[in-house]
Amino acid sequence: MKIEIKLTDDNSHTLFVPDLNETYHSKHGAIQESMHVFVNAGLGYFNQDKLTVLEVGFGTGLNAILSSVFALENAVLVDYTGVEAYPINNEITQQLNYANLIEGVSEEQFLNLHYLRWNEKTKISNYFSLTKLNKSIKDFELDNNFDVVFFDAFGPNVQPEMWDKSIFENLFNSLKENGVLVTYCAKGSVKRTLKEVGFTIENLPGPPGKREMTRAIKY
Ligand SMILES: C[S@@+](CC[C@H](N)C(=O)[O-])C[C@H]1O[C@@H](n2cnc3c(N)ncnc32)[C@H](O)[C@@H]1O
Repeated sequence: MKIEIKLTDDNSHTLFVPDLNETYHSKHGAIQESMHVFVNAGLGYFNQDKLTVLEVGFGTGLNAILSSVFALENAVLVDYTGVEAYPINNEITQQLNYANLIEGVSEEQFLNLHYLRWNEKTKISNYFSLTKLNKSIKDFELDNNFDVVFFDAFGPNVQPEMWDKSIFENLFNSLKENGVLVTYCAKGSVKRTLKEVGFTIENLPGPPGKREMTRAIKY
């Protein structure tokens, strides 16, 4: 798959996939979006000293590196699992500018997330462990032990099968009671499917450039 690196409005990089005509992040700001939707509305929702996170689409590792900073800054033990069906290669990850823009993150720390072995858990710091699973979320085995799901798939218009009821059912079951799924997407049909599988929907203001985002709660 061909991938191009693009600059977004907050000067952070994103990846563009010409075949899908889709970017990995908002063109209004990749770091900004990731902080708003996943870190603040996802991790920031909880008031507890341990969190288990499942990310659908590990991609550039941006959500993971920002979560590792959150973990350290807030003294929250984060156990993070990132599922990725199509890992990006090192030639691309070495060009991403996230370490230059995220305070407290070195280039080496960022690249290390990518160089880690797949399919095994690694302790990155006293507060952050990462397990990258090289598989499709469609093959993800149920285990209801997550507090948060970061649902960061390509949009429903370009990859509709990722927004199918069967996937959300699986994710609902993989969450603990009072767990949440956060996504940048606020499409009506997606929210209806989330409701059908049992989630309670919260419409939250979106990151700059987007009116709304969704937090779905498993009560
Ligand atoms: C919108 S991008 C976001 C990636 C990442 N969260 C980031 O910040 O860079 C969507 C990601 O989902 C991945 N993906 C596509 N199909 C998948 C599948 N069936 N299972 C897991 N990941 C998938 C893509 O390869 C891509 O990395």
